[in-house]
Amino acid sequence: MKTIVFNEINSTNEFAKTLEFAGEDVLIVAKRQTGGKGTKGRSFLSEEGGIYVSYVRFSHLAAENAFLLTAGAAVAVVNTLEAFGIESGIKWPNDVFAGGKKICGILVENVFRGNEIYRSIVGIGLNVNNPIDGEIKDIATSMSNIKGEKLPYENVLATLAYNLTLPVDMERYREKSIVLGKEIIVIKGDETYRAKGEEILPDGRLKLKSGEILSAAEVTLKI
Ligand code: BTN
Repeated sequence: MKTIVFNEINSTNEFAKTLEFAGEDVLIVAKRQTGGKGTKGRSFLSEEGGIYVSYVRFSHLAAENAFLLTAGAAVAVVNTLEAFGIESGIKWPNDVFAGGKKICGILVENVFRGNEIYRSIVGIGLNVNNPIDGEIKDIATSMSNIKGEKLPYENVLATLAYNLTLPVDMERYREKSIVLGKEIIVIKGDETYRAKGEEILPDGRLKLKSGEILSAAEVTLKI
């Protein structure tokens, strides 16, 4: 796969949007980002030592299958962590948690043409050897925090890059979910309530045991 590496860039996802070429998948890698983007308009702290990548794909997937891109990225991360001896789980839709804290965030941005996903930008920020301090310490972790030693950055990157090219395994997504069949807290607007995750629908929405169906854009989950 074609790979473009930057020592520093504002955001790999933003850079991906400026690429002129079409048709060829490419992996954009940055050692650090000055304007890393998170979901829901948040910023994503991107200090040196972490892996910040955008996998640009011309998947030709039907729009209703967009969730497969998100799920595939989460599974690729979980499998990468496992390859380095770290057990992790997926908090729907696409946060990866290890040791009860967030270790990786995923931001997928799609360009649609008619009913097809023409180009998708699968952005992944994985905490490897980057420092986790200050106020994020309570909610975030890194591979080196968990292992108690620095990880071989290039090997982790190569493993992740390979895993991203594998077919999406939805069974593995379900198996690694920390929401399905589990007690969760749903925050929806001003409301906060307990619920149990039951099923991921094909369009990526989460069905609760109560029958309620949640879309990722309108809720936040706590585990
Ligand atoms: C989140 O947890 O809110 C999603 C974070 C996604 C961060 C990655 S880092 C690489 C890519 N470039 C960005 O600007 N964001 C994504």
